[in-house]
Amino acid sequence: ELGLATLAQARGIVFGTTLTRGQVEESGEMRRIAAADAAMIVPGLELKWAGHRPSPEGFDFQDADFMLRFAEERGQAVRGHALVWHEALPPWFARAPRDAAGMRALLERHIRTVAGRYAGRMQSWDVVNEPVEPWDRRADGLRDTPFLRALGPGYIDLAFHLAREADPAARLVLNEYGLELATPEQEARRVAVLALLRGMVRRGVPVQALGIQAHLGAAARGFEPSVLRDFIRAVAGLGLEVYVTELDVTDRGLPPDVAARDAAVARSYRAFLDAALAEPALRLVTLWGISDRYTWMNDSRFARREDGLPVRAHPYDDSFGRKPAWYAIAEAFRAA
Ligand code: G3I
Repeated sequence: ELGLATLAQARGIVFGTTLTRGQVEESGEMRRIAAADAAMIVPGLELKWAGHRPSPEGFDFQDADFMLRFAEERGQAVRGHALVWHEALPPWFARAPRDAAGMRALLERHIRTVAGRYAGRMQSWDVVNEPVEPWDRRADGLRDTPFLRALGPGYIDLAFHLAREADPAARLVLNEYGLELATPEQEARRVAVLALLRGMVRRGVPVQALGIQAHLGAAARGFEPSVLRDFIRAVAGLGLEVYVTELDVTDRGLPPDVAARDAAVARSYRAFLDAALAEPALRLVTLWGISDRYTWMNDSRFARREDGLPVRAHPYDDSFGRKPAWYAIAEAFRAA
């Protein structure tokens, strides 16, 4: 049977998954399914500050280098995640300079060093991750982060210019979550993201794509295909591509029955992909987890199931058998 990446490629879509060094080293089954289904790997931890900046002066690229080598040896492309994010920062960041000059120097050094090291080897970089948060109640909808406090909203443009200088080839991406439901909260986030992107394009900032994370919920209400499609079209109207960067579907909130959970999760993958794939601006889909054995959700107090059962959010179960979700993704690509 054809793998998911092959089916996606026939529709002009690059398909892949996140993966970590720990998973690669621990599990031959993870290596097997990543090879069978992914044309692209997104290192899950290794390219975050916490993954390679043990001290303000020091960089440690052993794990990141391992992941790039792993993908390249198998002919897989790599996405970088993420150059600027307010989470996954190392402990020393709490004591880093908070004045404009100090923060600017920190960002410059970081982006030049990291994006420069892998220049020419990244298909794309998430340059700024999750910069929007309407709940922070700023008029521009931007998230209140240490970067914003020190440098103002201009930190986003600055990061993209630095990334472009350091790696002229990578596609530069603004990555955001909570963009796919027809709820007032997510509508506010879509409005803020569009305003941000529109301004960046107008100012000549080198952004090429919006990353829609797409952490979905099978029990969540409010998915309207037309809302997602209109949003993708609005982004495309700015001259940008659209990537689905962190696709997963939690079964949190569904009753324990496994067959019913798996069916509902599969339906959510299918409905989301059917809508997204109908838009020509959609170029890439990467999963945020491929097997339930290694899911981020059981560790997160926001994402784990209330009944304590392990989540079943990904296309393979915890013994690496294909679930209905795998077939739903395959069918979405076949039908597109
Ligand atoms: O591996 C260490 C372990 O050795 C240690 O004992 C333990 C104690 O804290 O931590 C383990 O590392 C954890 C790592 O996941 C591996 O499980 C980190 O603490 C934890 O912070 C890390 O969480 C990751 C999180 O981002 C922060 O980096 C999740 O795996 C990862 O799935 C999540 O991914 C994010 C995207 O980057 C952005 N979008 C949302 C997405 C889900 O939250």
